[in-house]
Amino acid sequence: MNKVAVIGQIKRLAKDFSQDTIKDRQHIHAHPELSFKEYNTSKYIQQRLLDFGISDFQTIAGTGLVVLIKGKNPDKKVVALRADIDALPIKEQNDVPYKSTNEGVMHACGHDVHTSSLLGTARILNQLKDEFEGTVKLLFQPGEELLPGGASLMIKEGVLENPKPANIFGQHVMTFLPVGKVGFRPGMYMASADEIYVTVTGKGGHAAMPDNNIDPIVIASHIIVALQQIVSRVANPKIPSVLSFGKFIAEGATNVIPNEVKIEGTFRTLNEEWRQKAHEKMKKMAEGMAEAMGAVCDFDIRKGYPYLKNAETLTLDAKAAAIDYLGEENVVDLDIWMAAEDFAFYTQHIDACFYRLGVRNEDKGIVSGVHTPTFNIDENALEIGSGMMAWLAIQELEK
Ligand code: NI
Repeated sequence: MNKVAVIGQIKRLAKDFSQDTIKDRQHIHAHPELSFKEYNTSKYIQQRLLDFGISDFQTIAGTGLVVLIKGKNPDKKVVALRADIDALPIKEQNDVPYKSTNEGVMHACGHDVHTSSLLGTARILNQLKDEFEGTVKLLFQPGEELLPGGASLMIKEGVLENPKPANIFGQHVMTFLPVGKVGFRPGMYMASADEIYVTVTGKGGHAAMPDNNIDPIVIASHIIVALQQIVSRVANPKIPSVLSFGKFIAEGATNVIPNEVKIEGTFRTLNEEWRQKAHEKMKKMAEGMAEAMGAVCDFDIRKGYPYLKNAETLTLDAKAAAIDYLGEENVVDLDIWMAAEDFAFYTQHIDACFYRLGVRNEDKGIVSGVHTPTFNIDENALEIGSGMMAWLAIQELEK
């Protein structure tokens, strides 16, 4: 393969298609749908694929789609590319022509960008299918934002089989990263995220007579403070861990001790063994402390997504390929990020690389974070995103 020539072809196609990719993004942005309800989004993607002359696709996990683009010698190797397609329950505050027309629902995490970008990638790869060997498997995935995560459902329904991909790439917008740049991190990258629901039941009564009560507020407060020892004293300092409580409901009054307190929080880390151990230790500590103080503690921890580990070699190779595509100055190294992402499920099964696409533009005032009502992107990112992903797939198929 003549690397320079192929990159040149991809860049030309990405540029030729860029206005359509922007239109696709704006259409999807204007018509956002919540997790696992992406019915019209799925139909739109199918229509666009047909417009591009791509008809080898089927639905999966409800609103999901699997698309095959076969090059020469299609059985040689399979590389998968994934985009998530769902939106969030947020009311958009941007004043743009393509503002959400679905009141209270918004593409505030850039999944409209991932979807339209992957449509652009599909179109590029379809044009170049006589130039590469192997098959590219494109995954349009529903329900990234909602447990159990569309990725886990697609895997259950066999998305990683027939044909089996050797590896998978996922792309996500990053609002801290200027448009024109991409970021990579081999190894541990994102955290597992588990939800904690605690009820401490004591005995309420008049605040003037504490001897007649069992005060769940004091006991719950002790529990919160004590649990911080899990991350500061019990966790291996080499494994990042976060324990945060964001909700503490005690509905008494200045002179009323309530019967119960409810607290809610999140536990995040980057090691499956430690994750399991921490769950057991937290539960034991909370229940034991409550009991010692005469109360009852119900400690419920619900598992969310696993931690996300990028395959070392695949990611280093992808970074090198990105440098070939964008230049050294536009490829950055990423830090560990304690948010969670259901792409992590794929990383448990095959070599995977989840990387970041810069979308920030301070000159244009595009600086809002994801999951905010003013999130937006510099749309020049779409030409970069669609071309880069096509190049990542083709260079990986060459190996
Ligand atoms: Ni997202």
